Amino acid sequence: MTAIGLQDIVVADTAISYVNGEKGQLVYRGHWAKDLAVHHTFEEVAHLIWYGSLPSPEKFVEFQAKFVKERELPDYIHSILNVLPADMTMMDVIRTVISALGTSGYEYPPTFDQAISLTAKLPTIIAYRYHRLRGREIVKPRKDLLYSENYLYMLNGECALPAQVRALDSYMVLTIEHGMNSSTFAGRVVASTHSDLVSSITAALGALKGPLHGGAPAQVTAMLEAIGTKENAEHWVRNALEQGTRLMGFGHRIYKTVDPRAVALRDIAQQLAGDDYWLDLAIHTEDVILRLLKEYKPNLKLNTNVEFYSAAVMKAVGLDGDLFTPTFAASRMVGWTAHCIEAVSSRLIYPESRYIGDMPAVE
Ligand code: ACO
Repeated sequence: MTAIGLQDIVVADTAISYVNGEKGQLVYRGHWAKDLAVHHTFEEVAHLIWYGSLPSPEKFVEFQAKFVKERELPDYIHSILNVLPADMTMMDVIRTVISALGTSGYEYPPTFDQAISLTAKLPTIIAYRYHRLRGREIVKPRKDLLYSENYLYMLNGECALPAQVRALDSYMVLTIEHGMNSSTFAGRVVASTHSDLVSSITAALGALKGPLHGGAPAQVTAMLEAIGTKENAEHWVRNALEQGTRLMGFGHRIYKTVDPRAVALRDIAQQLAGDDYWLDLAIHTEDVILRLLKEYKPNLKLNTNVEFYSAAVMKAVGLDGDLFTPTFAASRMVGWTAHCIEAVSSRLIYPESRYIGDMPAVE
């Protein structure tokens, strides 16, 4: 067992989700995530993640009303969004704007209402910036639409096809929560100091954007674009592995078998995109990569992770590459906030490091 990178180290007890990396299982509060993604909406699963149960129809109405009410942004946030430089990435914008919400209304201890407020606002922030950058009219959130539907509506200025909404909603459910991943851990560390929820989420966003974590899907698209054709895949991947390049969308700290989310997302992408050249290339490239990883790294159990087909699903619903990680953040906000609320009854997180530097002369 090694503590480097905190591998195999348990840092908290949690009742929110269970990840079995050997068996490829993901459970949210006693339910299989893959089943929830087929049978329930993002809002229903958010209710499960936060409160521990799926909502009754009456509870759902009450819960949804709270969500809708929190979608609008304060005026000063619009002013900030208007002045941020055009070359700032969407993740940098989100992190800045979430931070700018400040502590007022989000004081410690974190509450479910605070969690709903941050989750409801994030798609509005993304859509506002998206249109502002393109010099287009801002599309305001609609009160009659569910989370994923409203998100696509705000981005496109019109309602998306039901199949697109369903696909995005399933993606959102499959990525809503995932144990003690790096961004959740970052948020939970901040929460364990009894700091406010906005500070925790700002930290989580910073961790998510890294290419080894939530920043991977745009790099998957870049890799597939560089490969270009099925005929070029083997040559490209072999060359990349020989140069020691990490292949985005493969490998995982916990999963030593196939990531169940990758399987579910591949199905969703296939249902939605059908006979699409890009998806065909992705499926072919996956086969090539898995075969060559066995050849080049025979002792490592490297499999396809959630990010490989996340890119395919988001592309199929019409999202641009700069929205991939922000969209991931919009779903994971639920998991992050649930962990921050749970952390209220946990101990301060304060691990140790091993000093490998020089020592002064003996006193
Ligand atoms: N391609 C090629 N080699 C890989 C890959 C990969 N995708 N992933 C791991 N390896 C190799 C490493 O080079 C290393 O090999 P070595 O021992 O011969 O040097 C070995 O596997 C172990 O790598 P670590 O970085 O120690 O493994 P760790 O568990 O820390 O990494 C990680 C997990 C960061 C996800 C890694 O697999 C990776 O970089 N993948 C690509 C990025 C990616 O897809 N990230 C998204 C993950 S899912 C998510 O966070 C939502």
